[in-house]
Amino acid sequence: MRLDKYLKVSRIIKRRTVANEACDAGRVSVNGRPVTEMGTKVRPGDAVTVDGAPAEPEKRKYYILLNKPAGVLSSVKDDRGRECVVDLIKGINARLYPVGRLDYDTTGLLLLTNDGDFMQKVTHPSFEIWKTYRAVVKGVPDESDVKKFAEGVLLDDGKTLPAVLDVTGYQGNNAIAEVCIREGRNRQVRRMLEKIGHPVIRLMRIGFGSLELGDMKEGQWRHVSPEEIRRLTEER
Ligand code: URA
Repeated sequence: MRLDKYLKVSRIIKRRTVANEACDAGRVSVNGRPVTEMGTKVRPGDAVTVDGAPAEPEKRKYYILLNKPAGVLSSVKDDRGRECVVDLIKGINARLYPVGRLDYDTTGLLLLTNDGDFMQKVTHPSFEIWKTYRAVVKGVPDESDVKKFAEGVLLDDGKTLPAVLDVTGYQGNNAIAEVCIREGRNRQVRRMLEKIGHPVIRLMRIGFGSLELGDMKEGQWRHVSPEEIRRLTEER
């Protein structure tokens, strides 16, 4: 990248004329040597300073919505060499991390980002955003099961917050249900459904706050716009 562009994206000197003056005055250094030519190329790993202060380009923030396939880990890397969600996102020059997790066998909406503040905010227990799942379950839950969800289900790690269970269809003797929860405990939906006697056969996350999976195919991903991120973080 040219030095003038580098200084601009690092936001250390916003105006080109000021950058030129700083350069002319020998205030800009690359790898410890003053540089007066704005067309000088800055390469990855070069140390650029202005008046001795490091100039680093502001990192672009990425927010990615992935339809996670089954059989892929919600992590960055695996000691046993299994495929991880970050392996599915090609062409992004940033260290991405999954926002929370989906089980190995769960499919659907998973966010990935390199924005640490955003990550902390949405994974904090106090950020009780609604997450929506479509589950195929054994048998057919009835009104008393719906009530149990609405009151919170007692699990090994305590009673859950009130949740929503809605039977939306049937597959032979089994049901298709939508489940909404506001927490993110380990295997929570599977444990809640197991507890009421309707274990999960298949599980897919279809909503995360205002974000929807829509008709994305497994393995597909898209960028989430800053407007969608704003709505997500402000909607509670
Ligand atoms: N609840 C589960 O049981 N599994 C998931 O992957 C997500 C929520």
